Formats: sequence, structure tokens, C-alpha cells
Amino acid sequence: MFKKKFLAAMLGTAMVASMLTGCGAASDTGSSDTDTEAATTATTEAAADDTADDATADTADDSSDDSADTADAGGKKVGIAMPTKSLERWNRDGSYLEEQFSSKGYEVSLTYSDNKIDQQVKDIESLIADDVDLLVIAAIDGESLTQVLADAKEEGIPVISYDRLIMNTDAVSYYVSFDNYTVGKLQGEFVRDQLDLDNAEGPFNIEFTAGDPADNNAGFFFNGAYDALKQYIDDGKLVVPSGQTEFDQVATKSWDTATAMTRFQNILGSNYSDGTQLDVALCSNDSTALGVTQAIESDYAGTNSVIITGQDGDEANLANIVDGKQTMTVYKAVANEAVATLDLGIALLKGETPDASLIDASGWSFECAYDTDSYDNGTGKIPSYLLVPTVVTKDNIQTELVDTGYYTMDDDGYPHPTN
Ligand code: BGC
Repeated sequence: MFKKKFLAAMLGTAMVASMLTGCGAASDTGSSDTDTEAATTATTEAAADDTADDATADTADDSSDDSADTADAGGKKVGIAMPTKSLERWNRDGSYLEEQFSSKGYEVSLTYSDNKIDQQVKDIESLIADDVDLLVIAAIDGESLTQVLADAKEEGIPVISYDRLIMNTDAVSYYVSFDNYTVGKLQGEFVRDQLDLDNAEGPFNIEFTAGDPADNNAGFFFNGAYDALKQYIDDGKLVVPSGQTEFDQVATKSWDTATAMTRFQNILGSNYSDGTQLDVALCSNDSTALGVTQAIESDYAGTNSVIITGQDGDEANLANIVDGKQTMTVYKAVANEAVATLDLGIALLKGETPDASLIDASGWSFECAYDTDSYDNGTGKIPSYLLVPTVVTKDNIQTELVDTGYYTMDDDGYPHPTN
């Protein structure tokens, strides 16, 4: 495993601004032609508008660089398949990826498939029929793309598995993600530290909520968190009153907020209505944390503040963190994930076989590991570029999210994504 960290002095608004430099050519053509899922909220639409505005400004500023930057694109097309607009982060991923590839002169088609597996297969079929030269895919169901990706392979189209590993296909060339096990580990260690489990007497009560079993990441998140807390559960210092400690028992189909809420209301009704205190709700991500927080607000009889974990830095969850309703989120800078995907994509489009040296050669201003060991998709180990997640709490929202330029703190006192 190789690691590279560039000078912290590079961080800050200037870094983010330069990272997104030249994001101008992102036309709506790709998304309006192939975008099969309507934007679900006004916020999303507003964010998309902001993106377009920022992009225009950047294009004007950097037009002199663009001709050099875009020389390699040579009319090549990039197909980007995202899972859904209904989970906030994928809107940001799609925008960033579209901006990045367009800024280098590639024609981009961006699809969202409404969390419907068959729709995503069809969307990818269309991208292949449209003669894309590269596919970047965040799968809805990691197990369902074997056939369509066999077609991509036959056409010689390289495939980057984006954020979620696509299973059971030898068509995947590379994987770009965050260190998913570490995401869960950070959540578990956060709970350990908050409760001072090494010194406190306990026992404390905890319940787990994990993600979609169809998403290969979900098991990594759950295992990372569970492994960090297992010794305390084994010792009896942490107790799980529902008895639900297996991934399959705590998983949430489609990472759905309402599903997580209903399950948690049932847990509270069955195990906590007698006044039993809940100390921790370990949630794998923000969409599930939102449902669990709603369940606690509506159905929990206790008055203590429950430690609630999350992941992503979704707007509603950051507002809950500011308001003291959620305790932490694990933030993953998807803007950087898009930058890593761009440089990897360019190398693949040039016919190269990238390895660890891509990290140095690209001069990324964020930390990234090249890992050829951790992710096996059933046909073999997939070389992976893994970025590093960060714990965000009320105390460091300003330094981690606002000072870095990812979010702006609005007059309402809540952070909103910059892009
Ligand atoms: C992503 C998480 C996200 C979840 C639901 C996972 O694959 O890694 O960041 O919270 O999907 O969208």
C-alpha cells in the first residue's frame, strides 16, 4: 500500500477553488438527454443551478488553460451512471464528475436510475450503444451488472467502479472510493471515546443500523464499526437490548430513511418503552441516521441525548449536528473522489495501466492510498484508489467543511454545500 500526503498548507478555499478550476464545459446536454430521474427537491435543483453558474465563471477565468488541458480528449465520450438523486450525495458526485470530465474536453453523459436496478442496466446499455469510451459507474446493486458489463468489455470500454465495488465481473478495471472499513471504524472509535469505554463502568445500551445489502460498501462500514466495539460488547460494557447484532438484521434496503425510521420505532417500542435508556444509535450513514433521529424524536421515552453517528455530511444531518440532534458524521470529500476518477480515467483513455505512481504524477492535494489487496469482486482483486474519510462534529464543522471550501455557513447558521 502506498500513501501520499501533500502539504497541509495547500488546503483551504484556494485549494478547492483550484481543484474545480476550469469546470466550465459541463453542459447539460449529457444529463438532459439521459437523465432518467427527475430532481427530487428544490434544493437539488438550486444546487444544480449553482454548479452551472460557478462553471461559467470558471470557464471564463481559465479559458487559456483549457486548450492545453483538453488536447487529449479528442472527442472522446465518458458515460457516468449514478444510482439515484434521492440520496443527497450522488447529486454532488454526478455534478463533480460531470464538471471534471467536461473541463478536460470530454463529452459527458450522466444518468441517474432512480435506485432501480433494471433502469441502471438499461442506462448503461444506452451509454454503450452511444459509443462511450469510458464508463464510470456507482452501482445500485453490485451483483446485477455482470451481463451489461460483459458487453462493455466486448466493446473494449474500460470501467471504473465508482465508490461502490461492482461484483462478479472481470470488466471492472479499477475501483475509486474511500477506505470504507475505516469509515465504520471511525464511527465505532468515536463511540468508544465519547463513552470512555476503556474507563467507564457502563453498561451502556447501543443499537446498530446498517446500509443496503446490495451495496458492497455496507458490510465494510458495519464491520469497521462493529469490530471497533466488539470487545466492549463481549465484555458486557456495551449491551444491545434488541439482540440485533448481525448485518442482515440491521441492514436497511436502499439506505432508505423511512425504512430506517420504521425499524427503529419498532426497536424502541419493543425494548425501550419500559424506560430502558438508549445511549447510542450507531448508524452507517446520514440517510439512515435521519430516520433513526426521527424515530428517537417521536418514539423514545428517555430524556438523555443519544449518541447518533452518520456518514456523508448531508445538509439535513449537518443541520441536526448544529442543533445537537446528531452527534457526528464521517465526511468524504466527493469533490476529491471525482478528481481522482478524472485522472484515472484520463490515464485509461490513453491506454495506460495506472498504478501507485498515478498518485504522485497527478499531484493531488488530498491523501490517497493505492491498494491492490482489500477489494476482491469475486473475479479477483481490483486495484483501488482509496481516499481518506474525516470525522466531523459540531466542534470542527467550521474547520473541516467551511474553511476548506466544501460548504458555506449561511446566515441561518447552517452549512450548505458550496457546489
Ligand atoms: C456510499 C455512502 C452513502 C450510501 C448511500 C454508499 O455506497 O459510500 O457514502 O451514504 O451509499 O447513498
